[in-house]
Amino acid sequence: MNKTLRRAVIAGNWKMNKTPAEAKALVEAIRPLVKDAGCTVLVCTPFVDLAAALQAAEGSNIEVGAQNCHFEASGAFTGEISAPMLTSMGIRTVILGHSERRQYFGETDQTVNLRLKAALAAGMQVILCVGEKLEEREEGITGEIVSMQVKIALQGVSKEEMARVIIAYEPVWAIGTGKTATSAQANEVCHEIREVVAGLYDRATADGLTIQYGGSMNAKNAAELLAQPDVDGGLIGGASLKAEDFAVIVKAATEG
Ligand code: 13P
Repeated sequence: MNKTLRRAVIAGNWKMNKTPAEAKALVEAIRPLVKDAGCTVLVCTPFVDLAAALQAAEGSNIEVGAQNCHFEASGAFTGEISAPMLTSMGIRTVILGHSERRQYFGETDQTVNLRLKAALAAGMQVILCVGEKLEEREEGITGEIVSMQVKIALQGVSKEEMARVIIAYEPVWAIGTGKTATSAQANEVCHEIREVVAGLYDRATADGLTIQYGGSMNAKNAAELLAQPDVDGGLIGGASLKAEDFAVIVKAATEG
């Protein structure tokens, strides 16, 4: 993590977990544990928990984000939520392109690009998720896959808007499996992503970009992953549902 050049961001992706009452309790439990954090602390909750989480986080250093948004502002899109709906309730950040959205809900690089542009146009900050599947890593095409995902997702995004983009490198084979990428593997791909962004924009944009690692990051392995020069934070699933574990990761980012 290079804190002189960029912001360290530890984000919890709660996925489809917690009722509003449970969300309130979890934010309240996290609050005192992260109050001295030297990094951005974010919890991305299910849509129905956003209001409760925002209320529980009020006056603290915990930010609250969403896990997806649609590319239209309104209309006949049953079950979807738009970026202006999120901003209207005070939500500033949204995760887009998570591999579970790609795998189970038919998201493509193109729809991720549309959603990303819509979120940026609404003034939001985006955590763009990219990552290779196990067979792609075994075929030796991790770099190509991740580069393509980044390039398509960022089509039409200006250099100025890049200040509101965070990229999360999440190897699909490491998500929820307990199989973490080694710190060297994580750093290698995060570095590659930075070079792609340097090619698309310029060196300063690439150097200022926060790139997170995600995939079975936990209280035990976080410090080593976050010590890598190109790993600027974490997007954490399972371990973000336990206040103490999440706080240990925030501490590792603070000290790293
Ligand atoms: P786990 O930390 O549960 O592997 O999930 C990672 C993830 O998908 C975060 O977005």
